[in-house]
Order: sequence, then structure tokens, then C-alpha cells
Amino acid sequence: MLEVTDMHAYYGKSHILQGVNMSINEGEIVALLGRNGVGRSTTCKAVMGEVQPEGSVKFQGKEIAGKKAYEIANLGIGYVPENRDIFPGLTTRQNLTLGLKPGQKDGQGRWSMQNMFDMFENLGRRADVEASVLSGGEQQMLTMCRTLMGDPELVMIDEPTEGLSPQMVQRVADLLKEIASRGIATLLVEQKLSIALDIADRVYVMGHGHMVFEGTPLELKDREDVRKEWLEV
Ligand SMILES: Nc1ncnc2c1ncn2[C@@H]1O[C@H](COP(=O)(O)OP(=O)(O)O)[C@@H](O)[C@H]1O
Ligand SMILES: [Mg+2]
Repeated sequence: MLEVTDMHAYYGKSHILQGVNMSINEGEIVALLGRNGVGRSTTCKAVMGEVQPEGSVKFQGKEIAGKKAYEIANLGIGYVPENRDIFPGLTTRQNLTLGLKPGQKDGQGRWSMQNMFDMFENLGRRADVEASVLSGGEQQMLTMCRTLMGDPELVMIDEPTEGLSPQMVQRVADLLKEIASRGIATLLVEQKLSIALDIADRVYVMGHGHMVFEGTPLELKDREDVRKEWLEV
């Protein structure tokens, strides 16, 4: 589904990504873990074309490095950035509608608006009021649902549980499992180990600009050295 090979990226003269290798298969939940500042968000942005990548980024077998962000989105990669950038003055329903691809109508993809409202009753109850009244957790759900409305084949979700209550973290985990059950591949960026170990099929740990570990959650549990050096504060 996604194959990233020797990807590099820069902010000005700072060489941030220094040879990232990563792959994600269909229906797989892959966690990308690491401390703050190691380059996890930049990895998402480089795949998405929001930051110019060097190296190879293949999606469904086709090279996408060098394409523009909207072209990459239209090919089927959804991205939920870490800032929950909802449109506060628009209603919940209008926010969701903005997730549709050009020419796509509600109900044509795997996810419909009604589907979202059934899964998240709080969004349904507030379908026609300004999204600014939603709680932080509900806004997080809304940004995830908006991305799903575009019917992506792969979603990259950047720190979705940051600042959420344990109940909302559980709802995020449930939604991630539902995404996987519909055959969609997920890249879950996290700092916390727990949710990633619970739901991921595979885990990457990023050091400074490249991967320092790849394996299953069980394998990571056994690698105290990796956790000590690259994850635990
Ligand atoms: N827009 C930017 N301009 C310059 N440097 C940036 C920018 N965004 C991030 N960085 C730097 O790039 C590095 C990686 O950042 P980031 O990918 O956001 O890390 P993470 O998501 O793992 O916390 C950090 O050192 C950060 O300070
Ligand atoms: Mg980040």
C-alpha cells in the first residue's frame, strides 16, 4: 500500500529526515512512535507532499514523491494533522461535507455522514450547530471523521489521543479498529506506548530522523533497551 524508501526532508538547511524506510500494508495498523521532535510529523507531511521529500514514496505501486498535497489526497491518502483544524464557524455537518473529494457525494464511499452520526452520537446531536461548541475530544473525532468522508485507502493520524480523557482515548481506539476492519491501512503517530501496543499490528520507533526499531508490539515489549533509549522519558 505505502512503501517509503530512503526518504529525506529538510526545513531550510536543517536535515530533518535522514533516510526513512517504512512500509504499510492493506488493512494494517502501523504505529510510528518516538519522542517529541524526532520527525514523526515531518514523515507524515513528506508522504503527503506538504514538505518536499527526497527519495522514494510509493503508494499502491506508483511513485508519489514530488506530487502536490491535493493530488496525493485525491489518490487516496487521508491525513489528520496534530492540530485539530476544524472550521469553528461552520456546523458539524458542513465540516464533514468538506472532507468529501471533488465530485464525491455523501454515501458514495465506505463512510457516510449518517454512519458518523450513528458511531458518534455527540456529533449527530450537534450536526447543525457550530462546531466551536464541541469539546476537544469531539473536535478530534470530527477531524478524523472528516478525513474518512473522503474515503481514503490509507489514513495517517498524528497524535489523536493527545490531551483526551481515558474514555475518549478508548473511542479513538475503537474508531481505529473500525477503520482497519473496513480494509483501510492506518499510520498512527503516537508518543504514548500503551494505545499503540494495544491496537497496532506493527510498530516503528523513530530516533533522530530515521527508524531505530521495527517489529511487532510483542517484540517491542521485549526490547527494554529500545524503550529506554528512544521512548521512555
Ligand atoms: N516548520 C518547521 N520549520 C523548521 N523546523 C521545524 C518545522 N517543523 C518541525 N521542525 C523541526 O523538525 C524536527 C522534527 O519535528 P516533527 O516532525 O514535528 O517531530 P515530531 O512530530 O516527532 O515531534 C524538530 O526538530 C522540529 O523542531
Ligand atoms: Mg509531531
